[in-house]
Amino acid sequence: MKLSKKLEKALNDQIRKEYEAAYVYNGMRIYLDDAGLRGASSWMAKQTQEELEHAEAFIQHVKSMDGKVILEKVEGQKTDYKDLLEVLEAAYKHEQMITKSISEILDLAMAEKQYATENFLRKFVDEQVEEEESFRDLIDLVKFIGNDKAGLLKVDSGLGKR
Ligand code: FEO
Repeated sequence: MKLSKKLEKALNDQIRKEYEAAYVYNGMRIYLDDAGLRGASSWMAKQTQEELEHAEAFIQHVKSMDGKVILEKVEGQKTDYKDLLEVLEAAYKHEQMITKSISEILDLAMAEKQYATENFLRKFVDEQVEEEESFRDLIDLVKFIGNDKAGLLKVDSGLGKR
């Protein structure tokens, strides 16, 4: 059942990517707070927290498979954006990259008949469907309200309830 070196490396890369996602979203949270969008900022703080939980889940999986966890370097991320729409579009793109990455590790786990890792990753495939959908819905909503400031404040207040 021990992880192959290749699968162990792919899982460690994913740990870095989940921390990187937390860093990306934390940069967005900081921008949204600076922009006065407190609800959206709080929503993004929760998203940041979720990514840290994803990283921890991958760490625990590698450990429970008797693998070695490596914490690789995480790149710096920006804290400036144009507006909420730019934030959401960048976040959606990031989630698509994460989905692709998880799918590739799943392909590897399946090829190696590493069923425990396969089961573990399938939960993340489902999670990614939800994450992509929630960003797509928000993008549609923000596009719909366009330049309507009152509409934006309403959306911001709704996001604060997450
Ligand atoms: Fe950890 Fe948003 O994927």
